[in-house]
Amino acid sequence: MSSRKKNILKVIILGDSGVGKTSLMHRYVNDKYSQQYKATIGADFLTKEVNIDSDKVATMQVWDTAGQERFQSLGVAFYRGADCCVLVYDVTNTKSFQNIKSWRDEFLVHANVSTPETFPFVLLGNKIDADDSKKVVSNKAAQELAASLGNIPVFFTSAKTAINVDTAFQEIARSALQQNQNDADAFEDDFNDAINIQLDNDTNSCSC
Ligand code: GTP
Ligand code: MG
Repeated sequence: MSSRKKNILKVIILGDSGVGKTSLMHRYVNDKYSQQYKATIGADFLTKEVNIDSDKVATMQVWDTAGQERFQSLGVAFYRGADCCVLVYDVTNTKSFQNIKSWRDEFLVHANVSTPETFPFVLLGNKIDADDSKKVVSNKAAQELAASLGNIPVFFTSAKTAINVDTAFQEIARSALQQNQNDADAFEDDFNDAINIQLDNDTNSCSC
C-alpha cells in the first residue's frame, strides 16, 4: 500500500431532480432534514470527517449536483478525481429508476476514470418512508439493476427518517477510500516506472 496519504475522498451524488440528493447529503452531514424542495443549481459540496473500519480517518467531500437539466452546467473538472459515485433514485418514481443507467454512463464519459470496470458506484433507493401504495420500484428490481451494473452495493434509504443513511455512507466512504488508495498506488507505480526508464536510458546512453 502507498505510504503517501491523500485523505480527501471526493464523492459525487447523481440522479434525477427531486429524488432527494440534497436531502441525503444534509441528513448525512448535518443530521437535518427539510420538507421544502429547493432545486439545486449547479453543484455544491459539504465535507465530513469519517472513520472507516474504526481505524482509518478521512475527509469526505460530498458533491451534490443538480438533477434538473437546465441547471446542469458542470464541466469535466467537476467529475475529475472522484473516488466514488452515488446513484440515487426515488422508490416512488419509476422514471428516476429507469434513468440510473444513463446517470452512470454520463459519469463514466465525463470522469475519465482509469478503470471504469472497477470504479465504485453505490445505488440508493430513497424515500422508503413513503406509503407502500406509492412505492413503484421493487427492491428486487433494484437488486437486479445493481447486479447488472457490476454487483454494486444497493441501499434503501430515507433522508426523512434517516433510515440506512449512515450505513450507506459508511459503505460509500469505504469504497471511496479503496479507490483512492488504488489510484495512489497506480500513480506511484507509473512514477517509479518512469524513473526506471529514465535511469535505463541514462545508463544506455552513457559513453564513458
Ligand atoms: P434537485 O436538486 O432538483 O436535483 O433535487 P434533489 O434530488 O436534490 O431533491 P431534494 O433533496 O431537494 O428533495 C426533493 C423533495 O423530496 C423535497 O421536498 C424533500 O423534502 C423530499 N424528500 C427528500 N428525501 C426524502 C425522503 O427520504 N422521504 C420523503 N418522503 N421525502 C423526501
Ligand atoms: Mg438538490
